[in-house]
Amino acid sequence: MQMSWVNDVWEKVEKKLALTSSRTANDMFPYTTENGRFVAKGNLYWWTNGFWVGILWLMYNETKDTKYKTLAESLEVKLDEPLYGFDGLHHDVGFMWLLSSVANYRLTGNEESKKRGMIAASVLASRYNMAGKFIRAWNRERVGWSIIDTMMNLPLLYWASRETDDPRFSHIAQSHADTVLETFIRPDGSVIHINCFDPETGELLENLGGQGYTEGSSWTRGQSWAIYGLALSYIHTKQQKYLDAAKKVAHYFIAALAAADDFVPNCDFRAPAEPVYKDTTAGVIAACGMIEISRQLPEFEKDLYFNAALKILKATERDYANWSDDEDSIIQMGTESYKNKHNIPIIYADYYFIEALSKLRGKDVLFW
Ligand code: GLY
Repeated sequence: MQMSWVNDVWEKVEKKLALTSSRTANDMFPYTTENGRFVAKGNLYWWTNGFWVGILWLMYNETKDTKYKTLAESLEVKLDEPLYGFDGLHHDVGFMWLLSSVANYRLTGNEESKKRGMIAASVLASRYNMAGKFIRAWNRERVGWSIIDTMMNLPLLYWASRETDDPRFSHIAQSHADTVLETFIRPDGSVIHINCFDPETGELLENLGGQGYTEGSSWTRGQSWAIYGLALSYIHTKQQKYLDAAKKVAHYFIAALAAADDFVPNCDFRAPAEPVYKDTTAGVIAACGMIEISRQLPEFEKDLYFNAALKILKATERDYANWSDDEDSIIQMGTESYKNKHNIPIIYADYYFIEALSKLRGKDVLFW
């Protein structure tokens, strides 16, 4: 691997974050940018609110500069409003509190942060549906809906089991992951975004295209959540079936990128050629997952995953990174969903890009 590329890009990341962390309001959770400046979604319950905090912890872990820690800590306290507000919390408590409170606890041992993480884990565990063996994703009338994204929230449950020396949280996580193996992963390695179960009987009723193009299509960020989430379930449980499934989805993902001759995915692998909606977020998430898969494998098997990750990261940086001081975000051209908000910077593209670089530098602490 060319460490010079990694270190050159890392230098640019440090320069950018030194600037943006000082000019971004210290009570803001950036989501995207407008006129080059970060803007928030304006909803403290919004599922992406952990990513800026996570970026600050990644930067603190690498640089030990306390300005990142101080800002991350004050934003973590602000997230107490949704944590204790409770109504409106969803399965994405994993994204929100793994990257804020649990990251803080892992790096500094802060006991208050550990409690916040345990409350979030309890909320997530309480969303488990015993009849269908899945964790409920969203609220309102979607009682029986389960989505592939939840795979990335399971590490909160694995962490809670380790902290309490009580396997119940991990049992719920594994039961949900087993349902994903049975009902979300298609024989060709592509994955379904949404499965709707009967919440009383647990019967699988239908699947939906969700944020992808349509039913039966292949929303690329959903494939990425599966790759990284399954790899993480393997790391936390050592159950071979999760690593095998992570590899299978990764094979599909790599083949689709190679066939398109473009290592930055569009929003859906099965959408029409036009219009083009890029989704850099899907690429950098998958790259993180592929690096973790490669770390689990014997020497002669690693390269397929590691080299694909590197290709994705390099293509993303070459074509879609903005290093100008006039723009707060780094990675451009993310897409919220096939039907909504295309080709915009989204905070989690920056988060996973920085996490991937940190992994390549060998300096990472696994926040998941
Ligand atoms: N978890 C929602 C998304 O990936 O857009």
